[in-house]
Amino acid sequence: MELSHVLPEVDRYFEYALDTVYKYIHKTPMDYSATLSKMVGGEVYLKCENLQKTGSFKVRGAITKISRLRGKTEGVVAVSAGNHAQGVAYAASIYGLKSIIVMPRDASISKVEATKNYGGDVVLAEGGFGHLFQLGYEISRSRGYEFVHPYDDPEIIAGQGTLGWEILQQVSDADTIVVPIGGGGLISGISYIAKKLRPSIRIIGVESEAVPKASEARKAGRIVDVEVRPTLADGLSAKRLGELTFQFIEKYVDEIYTVSEEAIAQAIYFILERSKMLVEGAGATTVAMIFDGHGDLFRNGKTVFLLSGGNIDLTSIYRILLRGLSEAKKIVSLEGYALDVPGTLARIAGIIAEKGGNIVDVFHDRMDIYTPPGYTNLKIIVEVPNPETIEEIKEMLRHSGIWISKG
Ligand SMILES: Cc1ncc(COP(=O)(O)O)c(C=O)c1O
Repeated sequence: MELSHVLPEVDRYFEYALDTVYKYIHKTPMDYSATLSKMVGGEVYLKCENLQKTGSFKVRGAITKISRLRGKTEGVVAVSAGNHAQGVAYAASIYGLKSIIVMPRDASISKVEATKNYGGDVVLAEGGFGHLFQLGYEISRSRGYEFVHPYDDPEIIAGQGTLGWEILQQVSDADTIVVPIGGGGLISGISYIAKKLRPSIRIIGVESEAVPKASEARKAGRIVDVEVRPTLADGLSAKRLGELTFQFIEKYVDEIYTVSEEAIAQAIYFILERSKMLVEGAGATTVAMIFDGHGDLFRNGKTVFLLSGGNIDLTSIYRILLRGLSEAKKIVSLEGYALDVPGTLARIAGIIAEKGGNIVDVFHDRMDIYTPPGYTNLKIIVEVPNPETIEEIKEMLRHSGIWISKG
């Protein structure tokens, strides 16, 4: 499909999408972030699409596509690890169509459950996405249901384009929009529509360094298949761009960056702590750019960072929170040897409490051969109000006569 032939179609579908989607979805909030603005030396806005119906932007494209299938098919089929699945199941339910969603067996539990709750019939299957797509196409053929591609489709791209329009309604003089890239439907729609409305706007794409298909495609000047490595940004795990989305990205996306897993985790933690919002890995990649040393790109101008989704498993949040709290030195492990006499533990607990620390866990190891005679090996996990407190606790323990610090 040549881009020049597709653009008039996308224009038409976009007008249709604007008239249709807002009957069923929210205009999501745009938040100014004073802290991030200070960090980059520019004005930072967060577009909170994590608060969208079904928890992500995917519902925009799904409604645009599926509303046009009414009367033409009894049902739809989709292949997705999560957010497209929910968007399609929800959109199909609006229009009274059946939906069959093929998901990988290791898809996040919360996304599988949510898809079922929106009325989707979930088929869990083994194998890579190539195999899952094959299965999806087969089901669609045998049932006579329409296949809804997650990104390489002009109607889906036009639907996601409503987000570009909405962002510029809210920050009409934005200089930059930062958008995550999976298969590329989201950034295709946003970049095309935003540049139509504001030609000077800079569009930056971001993906996880674990699956760098867009950066590799840009370097090679063609679509490239990359290895899919595990990432917190599971929504961006497509191993290659689409035929259409590649062309949109080549033409309308100015710069593409990758971010590390550490930066994604830091961004999720930061948004939760500061903005009190839950954002999934894919949705946090945009803010992760700031934690990965790219803050200078946003100096002086107005930048909108898209938080594209909020569907994250509670088990992942738990791990990210613990890691974030430990990096911020709010949960700390005290390791050392305590005098093995009655009352020692109570004295140590007293010192920690006196400084406002809260003991989360205590581990005792009497088998450690390096323990000095008369002592016992102890590890104490402590929650503290700030990093200074832990230094004060360590100092008091050092002078207590009952404790030898390790290391
Ligand atoms: C939360 C989230 N953000 C971004 C993307 C990327 O969208 P696209 O595949 O259209 O590039 C996805 C894709 O599933 C997603 O779930």
